[in-house]
Amino acid sequence: MSDLPRSALPRVVIVGAGGHAKVVIEALRAAGFPPPLGLVDPHPPGPTVMGVTVLGGDEMLPRLKAEGAEAAVVALGGNALRLRVGDHLVSMGYALPVLLHPAAQISPSARVAEGAVVMARACIGPDATLGRLAIVNTNAVVEHDNVIGSGAHVAPGCALAGNVTLGDRALLGVGSAVRPGITIGADAVVGAGSAVVRDVPAGARVGGAPAMPLRR
Ligand SMILES: CC(C)(COP(=O)(O)OP(=O)(O)OC[C@H]1O[C@@H](n2cnc3c(N)ncnc32)[C@H](O)[C@@H]1OP(=O)(O)O)[C@@H](O)C(=O)NCCC(=O)NCCS
Repeated sequence: MSDLPRSALPRVVIVGAGGHAKVVIEALRAAGFPPPLGLVDPHPPGPTVMGVTVLGGDEMLPRLKAEGAEAAVVALGGNALRLRVGDHLVSMGYALPVLLHPAAQISPSARVAEGAVVMARACIGPDATLGRLAIVNTNAVVEHDNVIGSGAHVAPGCALAGNVTLGDRALLGVGSAVRPGITIGADAVVGAGSAVVRDVPAGARVGGAPAMPLRR
């Protein structure tokens, strides 16, 4: 948690070694976490990512736990997968710390659940709620009273006006804007650069300005 003294921040295992892991590694460093124990990924891009060693595949997780690892960050972009992996990690006894980039602006009245990450220059408004393992990515604005579901992803540069609800595992594509009071259902996908001006049903795929249903 960002409000813990730096000495209390845990060494984490990072699960996932793709592009999102790079952003997570930089945020961990900026937030003052100690150097990560390493990365776990069955198909890593190389032996290290941003100077962090890849330790192996998922089979490493129980071993690392037995050797004293306490906490993990799930750096997987796929929303449903991130939640499943997070649940599995919790069942193994890992804690999922909140990761708040110090260059993010977080209202003191916002509530942030375990495993959620907020990247640089994001802004979280008063009484907003971020669910478990949610991502609010670089330079996104999540205004007052928003409810961001578990495993949901607000991609870079999005702007959500007040009282927006983004359902569990939903993706709001990069650079999208959402009108006040809108509800976007669970597992919905909103395409990049969209303007969401009416509610989006659960599981729908929409895009454009104004956002309309997309071909499957
Ligand atoms: C919406 C999205 C998921 C669709 O991807 P896809 O399943 O590969 O679909 P396609 O690219 O085949 O596009 C299907 C149709 O939707 C249209 N479309 C795709 N993305 C669109 C968008 N953002 N806005 C408007 N229309 C879009 C395509 O033009 C195509 O139209 P057509 O049927 O008339 O040819 C993808 O385009 C997108 O915007 N992803 C957001 C990614 C993102 O922001 N990730 C966060 C990373 S940090």
